[in-house]
Amino acid sequence: MTITETAVRRPQLQEEVQRRRTFAIISHPDAGKTTLTEKLLLYGNAVEMAGSVRTRKNHRHARSDWMAMEQERGISITSTVLQFEYQDCCINLLDTPGHEDFSEDTYRTLMAVDSAIMVIDAAKGIEPQTRKLFEVCRMRRIPILTFVNKMDHLAREPLELLDEIENVLGIPAAAMNWPIGDGPTFQGVYDLQAGQVLRFSRTEHSQHKAPLTVSDLGDPALLSALGDAAHAQLVEDIDLLQGAGMPFDPELYGAGKLTPVYFGSALNNFGVEPFLQELIRLAPPPQPRAAEDGSPVIPANEEFSAFVFKIQANMNPKHRDSVAFARICSGRFAKDMLVKHPRHKKGLRLSRPYQVFAQERVSLEEAYPGDVIALANPGLFAIGDTIYTGNRVEFQPLPRFQPELFAAVRNQDTSKHKQFHKGLEQLVREGAIQRLYPADESNVPLLAAVGELQFQVLKARLRTEYNVEVELEFLSFTAAKRVLGRAEDIRQVKWPYRIMHAKDDDGTPVALFASQWDLRQCLERHAELDFRLEDLGFTVDPH
Ligand code: G4P
Repeated sequence: MTITETAVRRPQLQEEVQRRRTFAIISHPDAGKTTLTEKLLLYGNAVEMAGSVRTRKNHRHARSDWMAMEQERGISITSTVLQFEYQDCCINLLDTPGHEDFSEDTYRTLMAVDSAIMVIDAAKGIEPQTRKLFEVCRMRRIPILTFVNKMDHLAREPLELLDEIENVLGIPAAAMNWPIGDGPTFQGVYDLQAGQVLRFSRTEHSQHKAPLTVSDLGDPALLSALGDAAHAQLVEDIDLLQGAGMPFDPELYGAGKLTPVYFGSALNNFGVEPFLQELIRLAPPPQPRAAEDGSPVIPANEEFSAFVFKIQANMNPKHRDSVAFARICSGRFAKDMLVKHPRHKKGLRLSRPYQVFAQERVSLEEAYPGDVIALANPGLFAIGDTIYTGNRVEFQPLPRFQPELFAAVRNQDTSKHKQFHKGLEQLVREGAIQRLYPADESNVPLLAAVGELQFQVLKARLRTEYNVEVELEFLSFTAAKRVLGRAEDIRQVKWPYRIMHAKDDDGTPVALFASQWDLRQCLERHAELDFRLEDLGFTVDPH
């Protein structure tokens, strides 16, 4: 490369980094994540009509059948990465699968984003899955924008919702806009920073962008739409917020210590575009990522680096392929690039990279930090793997997450003993599931997962890729803990009646508890012993 080429390329890389926004939407099922995604795509001009990604209502059945098929094949194709341009920004929206698709992947996706949007149903407030996903974001200290959705329905008081965010999640919430009316009288929002009324009109089936009127609180049309009492209440609320509301502090937001809150209705397209504008204004571009030695890898570095955060098998049932999704952390990626991989001495040529948009694969020529590339994976990659050019880079390992579901896995055909163990080993190494060993001599491995889908994927993949049929026996335990302390003291522990003893990969004893109550009792009863219980991974829902 000549000096001139280097000089030209560097600003281009820096610009590409600066214009990227890579985020995920976290929410409880049914809060409106899919609807908001569609509407962001509508306003991002990535689809012409909302509903093109997933046509609503009449296709609802088709969708669940399709999901059943996916599970049958051991995959979860609903999880995609959407990329679209809005104004000068390139937006990467990573899906965090919920419902039946919930798995450790859902948490791991949050390891690959620079910020998150939290969608809350205005009638329900903070729900359990939102809380869990929020804890993962908090662990990473990533900035979170909150969208309070469904304001066109019967909603709770906005102030009460702000309080709930603060009390349940423990993060200060700064209102950035304020709903005008609620339920059927919901008109739009008052932008607290600009001091403007944004009134939206409904469109047919809400498939097109909602026309917007900008005015102020004295607008006679607003007064007549709301009526005297509601209008007076609105003026009073805004006065109160401007005097005593939590102010927005960009630094606290950037450190994940305050969340700006926006009200709206994704279904009706009310407040979606201003939210998208705020997203590109406030969400950070790709951030440096810590290498194993703690030093930051800067996105605008010339050398390429990326890490694998997700592996999906059998995306295409015709070819038994597996795909590794890698998030680029630094440098420019180009098709046919030769990269290094710590476990493979020889370099790897990335000749078939692509992006996944909904169901379609688009061949990829180049990509930049913040982008996600899908790589064909003939057994090469495991979760957390780093690929790079130049000097060796290894990122800090991705955390494991505390499993909540357990099953014993039995091979149905003893003549396939070898394939069974080989397959299980590979799937554990890939990060598809966690494995424990029984403490007795039964030799029946125990599987541990955060979502039921992981068991189904394991079963289907053992069948399709290793020709092994397994039987799963679901166990009614809810928590697994490593047992640590002095051996003599541990021997004195009186274990609860409903418990199972196991071991982890290193042979450390693990205890499986049936309930949190059992667990607490066990700890309280032995406070005088040198004995403690440690989680197997990051606990997203501390009890
Ligand atoms: P999810 O991905 O978070 O699970 O939620 P999704 O977008 O699928 O929305 C769940 C339900 O909430 C859907 O209704 C959707 O139409 C509705 N919804 C989303 N945003 C709004 C909103 O702003 N206002 C109102 N009133 N409803 C909203 P559904 O009946 O379950 O599905 P469908 O029949 O509409 O497809």
